[in-house]
Amino acid sequence: MDKLLIRGGRNLHGEVLISGAKNAALPEMCAALLTRDPVHLVNVPRLHDVATMRRLLDNMGVKTETHGERGGISFTAPDDLNPEAPYELVKTMRASVLALGPLLARFGRAKVSLPGGCAIGSRPVDQHIKGLQAMGAEITVEHGYMHASLPLGASRLKGARITTDMVTVTGTENFLMAAALAEGETVLENAAMEPEISDLAEMLIKMGAKIEGHGTSRIVIQGVERLHGCTHQVVADRIEAGTFLCAVAVAGGEAFLRHGRVDHLGAVIDKLKDAGVQVQAEGEGEGAGIRVRSTGQLKAQSFRTTEYPGFPTDMQAQFMALNLVAEGTSMVTETIFENRFMHVNEMLRLGAQITTDGRVATVVGGKPLSGAMVMATDLRASASLVIAGLVAKGETLVDRIYHLDRGYDRMEEKLRGLGADIERVSQ
Ligand code: UD1
Repeated sequence: MDKLLIRGGRNLHGEVLISGAKNAALPEMCAALLTRDPVHLVNVPRLHDVATMRRLLDNMGVKTETHGERGGISFTAPDDLNPEAPYELVKTMRASVLALGPLLARFGRAKVSLPGGCAIGSRPVDQHIKGLQAMGAEITVEHGYMHASLPLGASRLKGARITTDMVTVTGTENFLMAAALAEGETVLENAAMEPEISDLAEMLIKMGAKIEGHGTSRIVIQGVERLHGCTHQVVADRIEAGTFLCAVAVAGGEAFLRHGRVDHLGAVIDKLKDAGVQVQAEGEGEGAGIRVRSTGQLKAQSFRTTEYPGFPTDMQAQFMALNLVAEGTSMVTETIFENRFMHVNEMLRLGAQITTDGRVATVVGGKPLSGAMVMATDLRASASLVIAGLVAKGETLVDRIYHLDRGYDRMEEKLRGLGADIERVSQ
C-alpha cells in the first residue's frame, strides 16, 4: 500500500497549477446522462473519484473517451443504456448518488445503491429522495437499492417547489439535473450556493437548459424536452487551491497558484490574512491565479464551518494544521458533519495539543511538531497530515493515502515541484 514520506523543514517556492474541481467534475460527468449527444469536458482532474465515476458510467453503457493533454474526456450516453449504479461502485464514492436525478429525468427509471456509511458521518440521502418524489418520482428502497420510476402513464418528471431541510450540495445538483428535463417549472429554495453548483448550472445552460438564480439560495428551472451536447471546462478546484494556501502558510515561502480563484475562497483567505499570510489575486485570463506569501509568525484563528460562502468543511482539517503551528489558542467548530475530527488523534501523534468536545476542537498552537507515522482517515484529513508533515521535525510517514488519491490530482508531485521533500513509497 502506498504511503507518503515527508521530511519536514523546507520552505515552498514556485508555481503550481490548480486542477479542475473534483466536486464540479463529478456532477458534470453525470450531466452527460441527460443527452444522447456527446458531451466534452476539459480540465477534468486526474484522481480516483473521477476514475470511479467513469467506471460507473462505463458500466451503464456510456461511451467515454480521453482526449489530449488537458484532462479532456468525452461522454456519450446512448438511449439504450442500463440505468443502474451498483453497490460495488457506489460504496467507494457517495457522489455516485448524482446519477439518480439525470437517469430518472431522461430514462424514467433508475436503480441506484444507497451509499451506506461514511467515515465523516452518517450522510443520508433522504433529501435527494424527498425532492425527487416531489417531482413525481416513485422511489422505494429495497435490498439496499433505491428503485426509482415515473408513475404509470407519465413520461417526464414534473416541476415542483423543493425546500430541503438543510442545504445539500449534491442534493441541489441532483434536483438541477432532474428539473432541466422535467415538465414545467421547478423552484429550489434553500439551494446550495457553492461555485461547483454554478459551474454545473452553466454547463446545463450550454446544453439548452433554462436556469436562473444559480449562485443564490433560490434557483428557478424551466424544464425543456431535450438537451444537447456541449463542451465545458471544469472550474478550478477551490479546495485544492485552499490546501496549497495552507501548505505555503505553514511551511513558509511564496508561491503562485495558477488558475486558483480568490473569489471562490473568500472565507478562507480572510482567515489566512488575519493569521498574517499575504494572499492576493494576480494575472489575467489563463495566467490568472493566487499569489501567497508567508510573513513569519502565524496567529491562530478560530472559525466555524458553514455552507458556502462560509468557511468550507472541506478546508477545516487543513486550516487546523495551520493553527497547530500558529501562536495562540483557537476554537474550530465543525457544523456540517458530525464526525469530522478524525485527523485530531493523528495530529496528537505529531506532538499537537488539541482537545475536542463534540463539534468543537480547541487547539493550543505553537507546540513543536515532530515527525511520526500517521494514518490518513479521510480525504481532507489526509491533506492536513501532509501539511503538518511539511513543518514537523524529521520524517512523517502518512499511511492509507488512497484517501488522498481519491480527491487530489498528484498532490505530492505538485508539492515536490514547490521544493518539498516528499515521496511516495510502497511498503
Ligand atoms: C458535498 C461535497 C463534499 C463536501 C460537502 C459539504 C461533493 C461530491 N461533495 O457533499 O466534498 O464536504 O458537500 O460542503 O460535492 N444531508 C442529509 N440528507 C441528505 C443530504 C445531506 O442529512 O439527503 C446532510 C449531510 O449528512 C450533511 C449535510 O446535510 O450533514 C450537508 O451534506 P451535503 O451538502 O449533501 O454533502 P454532499 O453533497 O454529500
